[in-house]
Amino acid sequence: MSDQVFDRVVVVGLGLIGGSFAAALKKAGRVQQVIGVSRSKSTLDKGLELGVIDQAEPDIAKAVVGADLVMLTAPIGVTQTLLEKMKPGLDGKTIVTDAGSVKGNVVAAAKAVFGEVPNWLVPGHPIAGSEKSGVTATNPSLYENHKVILTPLIDTDNTAIEKVRSAWQWCGAEVITMDVAHHDSVLAATSHLPHLLAFSLVDTLAKEDENQEIFRYAAGGFRDFTRIASSDPTMWHDIFIANKDAILERVEHFENGLADIKAAVEAGDSNAMLGIMTRAKGARDHFTKMLAKKAYSSAMTEKQITFIAKPGGQVSGTIRVPGDKSISHRSIMLGALAEGVTEVEGFLEGEDALATLQAFRDMGVTIEGPNKGHVKVFGVGMDGLKPPPGPLYVGNSGTSMRLLAGLLAAQRFDTELTGDESLSKRPMKRVANPLAEMNAQIETQADGTPPIKIKGGAKLKPLQYDMPMASAQVKSCVLLAGLYAEGETSVVEPAPTRDHTERMLRGFGYPVTTEGPKASLSGGGKLTATKIDVPADISSAAFFMVAASITPGADLLLEHVGINPTRIGVINILRAMGGNLEVLNEREVGGEPVADIHVKHAPLKGINIPEDQVPLAIDEFPVLFVAAACAEGETRLTGAEELRVKESDRIQVMADGLVALGVDAQPTPDGIVIQGGGMGSATVESHGDHRIAMSFVVAALRSEGDITIGNCANVATSFPDFVDLATKVGMNVDVQ
Ligand code: S3P
Repeated sequence: MSDQVFDRVVVVGLGLIGGSFAAALKKAGRVQQVIGVSRSKSTLDKGLELGVIDQAEPDIAKAVVGADLVMLTAPIGVTQTLLEKMKPGLDGKTIVTDAGSVKGNVVAAAKAVFGEVPNWLVPGHPIAGSEKSGVTATNPSLYENHKVILTPLIDTDNTAIEKVRSAWQWCGAEVITMDVAHHDSVLAATSHLPHLLAFSLVDTLAKEDENQEIFRYAAGGFRDFTRIASSDPTMWHDIFIANKDAILERVEHFENGLADIKAAVEAGDSNAMLGIMTRAKGARDHFTKMLAKKAYSSAMTEKQITFIAKPGGQVSGTIRVPGDKSISHRSIMLGALAEGVTEVEGFLEGEDALATLQAFRDMGVTIEGPNKGHVKVFGVGMDGLKPPPGPLYVGNSGTSMRLLAGLLAAQRFDTELTGDESLSKRPMKRVANPLAEMNAQIETQADGTPPIKIKGGAKLKPLQYDMPMASAQVKSCVLLAGLYAEGETSVVEPAPTRDHTERMLRGFGYPVTTEGPKASLSGGGKLTATKIDVPADISSAAFFMVAASITPGADLLLEHVGINPTRIGVINILRAMGGNLEVLNEREVGGEPVADIHVKHAPLKGINIPEDQVPLAIDEFPVLFVAAACAEGETRLTGAEELRVKESDRIQVMADGLVALGVDAQPTPDGIVIQGGGMGSATVESHGDHRIAMSFVVAALRSEGDITIGNCANVATSFPDFVDLATKVGMNVDVQ
């Protein structure tokens, strides 16, 4: 094989899978010659005619002589026969791989033929295909952006693995590896069971007397559910034989699930029916990505989104930004543990809050919605959570992980909390330490990062905690654990932090006392369901407050914004810089103060940001740094080392972006010093941090040229409609 190109590839069993593999390699210019092997002369003729293969060879032993790579794509029932026939033509240099849907049988067939599994055999399985079959269905793009699972054994030759990996990557696929048994069990659930059900459903209905009628009127649902019943019966027969045990295990599991929903329908049990269906809908709608990550963790690649923010935008009009993230998280957590049904309006349908919602669904809580911000949580009471089926994956969300740790420390069952790449680097000892003092059985990685593993059944003791950092997440975690500890738990904070947990617990009828910096509660009480109206998130409104402040001619009204005194640092700081912000129509909604905020352009000046404002504006600094870059003179921030452990190191990442734009921005260990002045044009990196991405979009209102911002997919964690609203007020941003 010459470098980076296969000289000779043999495809055995020329159909959709093999034909598409050959065609994709050809399209990528990575193969000199493809030889097709098939029992059917007409298939080979068609392959030649379509240019999928260069040579046809009915005799497999002859075909494989001197080949670089042999791809077996015949039905898996004949694998052993094929290996036997190939054996005389193989010299130990040819790599053999396959594309079968079951891997255990390939390994068994190889052992039977060769006495052991040869080190040149790399079992593989592309997760692509279609109900169509045959060489005429060949599609060179079939594997693009699909996953291919390789299941090499311990002794498989590394060079062979790498060559097979390259071949699939050249076809446009993403390659991951897994062990054989795990593959067969995962595929039994995700592919083999659905096929079995589709075949069975169509067969069952077809046997019924009125089948003509059924098929005539069967529209969307039947069609969607049964598309795969048109798949190749021989192929699926072989799969059901080869993966019998794993499939039967999944069928049994499914039968239990079916019995549950049948019983719920029979009994007219609305709660049970809605529980099943809302969990299923939630999983299907929002968590395809997250569920995929659970199965294939590190190998999952994120959707790449780039923002191109253009100068010259306007900021005017009236908007309402989405619901408060902190309150949305807590509405689900407290609603789930309450007695009765909690109704939430204005819930933030961002990925972080949805991660919390899914975690509680995973623990058996019925949650309807979200539907345009409306959510109904059917509380299970303080002790009603059920063990989740696997680790709770909370994506990018630090709030979910830290607050849940407190609640889970007190449950009877074990749990594990995992997150995405950014969350997996964030400090969790800050919650694990006080929880351990309360007698929780909790572990992080040695360096204090996730996953967090919690052993159930611990009897928690109350704690008087002097919190070493000003963190609402740590405070909330300890207070939530304190709900389950006998006696009084209290947290003393070094500076005021957001107090939504305390306010909302009271809203759910749970007494919490606050005396200066100390919040206390006694364990053993209960929560009573309530109605929650989530105000617009001041942390999302902040982007528009800065946008209007820095844009000449701007005049913007932000409606129904939460102005809890522990959150208004951004208003205080912008006003101290000379910002023109009016707080209008102040009112209280469900225990939280709310107002409309009118912002007009004003020339800003640099200031020393008072340290007491830091926790009150903790999430708003990225965009406040943009305000500082547009202000006259120097802005200095100190006492904000917490910014280095947010979704990214927000001091360094913002400094890097601002410097790229030509701003004099000097990071310090606990803050930054920014000299106001002009901004040019640059490509900046958000490091997957939602607030950094949105801040640089705001910066473009005053930059000389485009700002291209990489890695913006996570804007969906807190502000899924950001680009729409930014466009609505007159900002210019393209999404790629
Ligand atoms: C939050 C608290 C803050 C904040 C985060 C949400 C909360 O974190 O940064 O976005 O909902 O309690 P820390 O408490 O760690 O500062």
